[in-house]
Amino acid sequence: MGLSIQAALKFGELALKKANIKNYKNEAREILENLLKKTPEEFFLMRDKSISKTNNIAFIKKVKKRTNRLPLQYITKVGHFYSRPFYVSKGVLIPRQETEILVEKVLKTLRGEDNVSCLDMCSGSGCIGITLALENDCFKKVILSDVSKKAFLCSEKNIKIFNLKKRCTTILSKFFSNIPNIKFDIICSNPPYINEAEYPLIEKDVKDFEPKLALVSKDKGLLHFKKIAQGARAFLKPNGLLFFEVGLNQSQKVKKILLDIGYCDLLIYNDLNQIKRVVVGKWKK
Ligand SMILES: C[S@@+](CC[C@H](N)C(=O)[O-])C[C@H]1O[C@@H](n2cnc3c(N)ncnc32)[C@H](O)[C@@H]1O
Repeated sequence: MGLSIQAALKFGELALKKANIKNYKNEAREILENLLKKTPEEFFLMRDKSISKTNNIAFIKKVKKRTNRLPLQYITKVGHFYSRPFYVSKGVLIPRQETEILVEKVLKTLRGEDNVSCLDMCSGSGCIGITLALENDCFKKVILSDVSKKAFLCSEKNIKIFNLKKRCTTILSKFFSNIPNIKFDIICSNPPYINEAEYPLIEKDVKDFEPKLALVSKDKGLLHFKKIAQGARAFLKPNGLLFFEVGLNQSQKVKKILLDIGYCDLLIYNDLNQIKRVVVGKWKK
């Protein structure tokens, strides 16, 4: 007979607690649940059962990775966004809760349209564009574009997982270089926006494990906003909207970038922590 699930779990909890992982109980459970490919409900019902030696060894290895600070999402290969489990692989940014506000604001602008096209530039795992398509059928064409091959493959996998092949496509593209010559109703982006000079100061766990390409932008963190806002002019329909997620203290700077380029009806929205997180502009020309 193998080890009991309870005992394995206890071992995991203790190891994670010792490594100062704050949510050690939940994380140990999530790792084991994910390894055994069980839902939380199924897992709960089998707590008195035992696990095989192979699974126990695999569990210990995964717990070890977490005690070495590898983010949980890279261990389970699942990152939650808008209450859905997205596939996420190492080399691709883990979806963040603060990005959900951008999705929410895009969804709120819809007024019963039935054929909306959207470009999610710097798409990473694809969490923004895919969530839009899942939340509203009016998104008939969603293009996810990213310069990273790993992100490209990851978002392709998520398109398959969520069965969205008919409405979502992935494109490998540096900014707009490979984007087909079509006009979109909406362009949204959560680009890299950390100032290179501040990169050494960010959370160690993020810096050590998440891709720098997804985090840092030149020109004091503003280059991607400038390039995307400039490029988007040729890809937005008249009255098309550009949505950006922005970092701490960037909203006014990004608003000015958009105004200088010629966007109008500028709006700024707070996230749940009252940080100005989303900047929206309309392209009227
Ligand atoms: C902050 S991450 C956002 C990922 C995803 N949209 C999300 O919200 O989780 C930024 C993404 O931009 C991509 N990226 C960086 N520079 C780029 C460029 N010049 N053109 C296209 N994508 C770029 C990175 O590979 C990364 O996936």
